[in-house]
Amino acid sequence: METLAVPQGNFELSRFPARQQETLRAWDAADEYLLNYLQDEQLLHTNSRILILNDSFGTLACALSGYHTVSVSDSFIAQQGMRLNFSQNHLDPDAIEFRHSLMDYGQGEPYDLVLLKVTKSLGQLEDQLHRIRSCLSQNSQIIGAGMVKGIHTSTLELFETIIGQTQTSLARKKARLIFSRFNPTLNPPENSYPKSYILENTEYQILNHANVFSREKLDIGTRFLIEHLPADNRFQQIVDLGCGNGIVGLMASAANPEATIHFVDESYMAVASAENNFHRAFPERSATFKVTDCLNGITQDSCDLILNNPPFHQQNAIGDFIAWQMFSESKAVLKKGGELWVIGNRHLNYHAKLKRLFGNCSTVASNNKFVILKTVKR
Ligand SMILES: C[S@@+](CC[C@H](N)C(=O)[O-])C[C@H]1O[C@@H](n2cnc3c(N)ncnc32)[C@H](O)[C@@H]1O
Repeated sequence: METLAVPQGNFELSRFPARQQETLRAWDAADEYLLNYLQDEQLLHTNSRILILNDSFGTLACALSGYHTVSVSDSFIAQQGMRLNFSQNHLDPDAIEFRHSLMDYGQGEPYDLVLLKVTKSLGQLEDQLHRIRSCLSQNSQIIGAGMVKGIHTSTLELFETIIGQTQTSLARKKARLIFSRFNPTLNPPENSYPKSYILENTEYQILNHANVFSREKLDIGTRFLIEHLPADNRFQQIVDLGCGNGIVGLMASAANPEATIHFVDESYMAVASAENNFHRAFPERSATFKVTDCLNGITQDSCDLILNNPPFHQQNAIGDFIAWQMFSESKAVLKKGGELWVIGNRHLNYHAKLKRLFGNCSTVASNNKFVILKTVKR
C-alpha cells in the first residue's frame, strides 16, 4: 500500500490482486496530472456529475467519491481494486456507482465531467467515445489522460472524429491530458464494434466486443491450440480459462459433445462475446459464463479439463504473474486425474512452472513459435 497525495486528499492505495513484494503503484502520473488539473482549473463543484472510464484500481474514484460519480470499466479486477481501495480509505462503496463496459453509461442528465484514462486498445477507445456521446451536453468537459507513450495521432484522431475539436496538454512526468470539446452537430462514422468474422474451416460466426483479445481475426497461438484439442469422454466438465471470445471453449465443445463448458474471463466484453458465440453455435446446449478473477468462485475439485491461453499483462503491467495465478488456481479446481492444457510462446518456459506446481508436465504439440503443455493433477 502506498499513499497518493493529491489536492482532493491523501489516499492509501493498493493494486489488486495483492502480490508479495509488489513493485508497482496503483496509480500513474496521468492520474496525478488529471486530479491536480481538476483542482487548478476549479472544475469540481458540489453537484458535479462525473463519469470515469478505465480507472485501474479506483484511484480516481477514491479521490472523487464526494461527487455524483459513475465509474465504467470492462475489468472485474478494476472493480475489485476499487472496492478494496474504498474500504482501505474508509470510503462508502455506495458513494460511487460501478457499471461494466456493456451497460448504459448515462445518468439521466448529461455529465459535467468525463474523465477517460486512455488504454492501449484503440478499439475500446472507439467504442467508449461512441457510448459517451449520448451522455454529453455542450457544457460537458471531456478530459482524456494517459502516459505520453500511449497517446498517438490515432488516439487523438478518434477523439476528434467522434467527440469534436481536440487538443493536448504539455507533458508532465511523461503524462499528458487530452481536451475534447463536444460537437453535437458532428456526424461521426458508425461504431465499428462489435465486429464479427467466420472462424476459419467452420461455419461459426465469432462476435467480438471492442475490448476482446484478437478481435479482428483468429490469434495464431489460439489456432495452434484448437488444432490439438482433446476429444475424450473422460472430460465432462471443461473450463475455458481466460476465454476471450470463447473460440477455445467453442471448439472443445464441438470435439466433446457430452461435455459442459464453463467460460471464464475477467473482461465483461469477453464473457459477453463468448456467451453470444456459444449460443449461436450450439443453441441446444447449455454452458456457464462467469466474469471473475482467474478461477475465483469455481468449486474446488470439480473440473476434468482446463484449457488456457494465459495473458501476459494485467492493465499495463507485463509479466507471468497472472499465468502463475491461473495455474495454481487450476490445480485447486481440477478433480484428481484432471488435466490443465496450456499454450504459450516457447520462450515463456511455462514448462518449469507447471512442473514445479503439479510435479509433472508433458508436451502435447509444438512448432517453432508455440508449445502446448499438459499437466495432470495427481
Ligand atoms: C491471451 S488471451 C486468450 C483469449 C482466448 N482464450 C483465445 O485464446 O483467443 C487471455 C485472456 O485472459 C483474460 N484474463 C486476463 N487476466 C485475467 C484474470 N485475472 N482472470 C481471468 N481472465 C483473465 C483476458 O481478458 C484475455 O481474454
